[in-house]
Amino acid sequence: MANFFPRWTNFLPLKIAICAGAVATGAVFAFTYYATPKTLAAGYQPSQPIPFSHKIHVDQLGLDCRYCHSFEDVSGTSNVPGSNTCWNCHQHVRKDSPKLQPLRDRMDPTLKSPDFGKPVKWVRVHKLPDYVYFNHSAHLNRGISCQSCHGDVDRMETVYQKNSLSMGWCLECHRAPENHLRPLEEVFNLKYDPQVYFNEHQAEMQNLGVKKPEDLGKVLKEHWNIHSKETCATCHH
Ligand code: HEC
Ligand code: HEC
Ligand code: HEC
Ligand code: HEC
Ligand code: HEC
Repeated sequence: MANFFPRWTNFLPLKIAICAGAVATGAVFAFTYYATPKTLAAGYQPSQPIPFSHKIHVDQLGLDCRYCHSFEDVSGTSNVPGSNTCWNCHQHVRKDSPKLQPLRDRMDPTLKSPDFGKPVKWVRVHKLPDYVYFNHSAHLNRGISCQSCHGDVDRMETVYQKNSLSMGWCLECHRAPENHLRPLEEVFNLKYDPQVYFNEHQAEMQNLGVKKPEDLGKVLKEHWNIHSKETCATCHH
């Protein structure tokens, strides 16, 4: 079998070291040469073993992200739910749907399917290279919403990658997080609207010194003492 990973990945730690050195000495060209954003992955939308729809489950049924992506705010790793989570409902709901046959095969012992007990192999959509360090809770606990990075997942029939996840994309926000910061209780709310929030929390807004909705991000940044870093070691250990 051919080598699955492109050969250049072997040299990445070296490249990063060279870039870091070059940046330190002011030779920015090396940085721009190596770190050209790759935008190819934006739009990636693999088909999944079960046609699971966020639009149905989040937008229509109103389920919270944490019902299924439960480790988000406690650990650094994200996760997709196991079949038990689906079976809680689907042993009762839509019991005859052909779309759910793969789930029944895995969960219903009376069907005697060879797939019984096996996990559903969801196809991973968002994936950073191994040499990048990323942490979900560092963002969610600091007022950055799923929406800023993943787009309007609540309206997606099939999940796709909204943003490039390139280094330039990460840095764009690290330089100006105020454009994305929102109150912590709104992080999982993909229908968040600063104007509505402002109107509904007037006293609180006055205490914080927020005069108009557009200023909320800036005020939160100061209030929480946010310093999203740009140093190489933040994302490359
Ligand atoms: C009922 C369970 C359920 C709920 C609720 C749910 N999800 Fe998901 N989510 C899944 C499943 C299953 C997958 C894997 C299949 C897929 O990609 O569609 C997934 C995949 C994803 C992915 C892509 C993961 C990857 O492979 O890169 C993102 C991003 C995501 N969900 C975000 C959200 C957000 C944001 C919310 C809340 C607004 C949410 N989900 C609510 C079940 C759920
Ligand atoms: C809280 C209950 C609940 C959970 C948990 C849940 N679902 Fe559903 N799901 C529903 C309901 C209710 C519908 C029907 C919605 C409708 O028809 O408007 C549905 C519809 C579906 C459909 C469409 C069925 C059809 O015939 O069109 C699929 C596929 C599906 N769910 C897959 C999943 C998967 C996979 C999971 C786990 C990741 C999951 N569901 C978790 C309640 C749930
Ligand atoms: C700051 C940007 C950012 C935010 C905010 C964010 N994500 Fe992610 N998410 C990513 C990146 C980048 C990846 C790929 C990580 C990797 O490959 O290590 C990812 C991967 C995922 C995955 C797939 C990983 C896996 O283990 O299968 C899921 C599911 C997911 N995110 C769900 C969510 C949900 C739900 C929220 C909100 C509660 C959220 N994300 C908030 C950037 C973000
Ligand atoms: C939409 C805005 C946004 C995007 C996009 C974003 N970040 Fe962040 N990031 C932040 C904020 C805000 C913090 C928290 C800074 C703080 O705690 O003061 C943070 C913190 C971090 C931290 C934690 C640093 C520490 O001190 O522990 C890491 C690592 C990180 N980001 C990596 C990434 C990577 C890698 C990407 C791109 C894949 C990315 N971020 C994209 C806003 C963002
Ligand atoms: C906020 C997070 C973040 C910071 C800070 C960061 N990087 Fe990156 N870097 C990334 C991500 C994400 C990628 C992967 C991009 C991709 O897959 O397209 C990457 C990729 C790279 C690559 C490989 C690019 C390629 O095209 O092969 C190099 C080299 C690199 N970074 C060097 C640096 C140097 C030097 C610094 C410090 C000046 C730095 N990075 C700071 C997130 C970061």
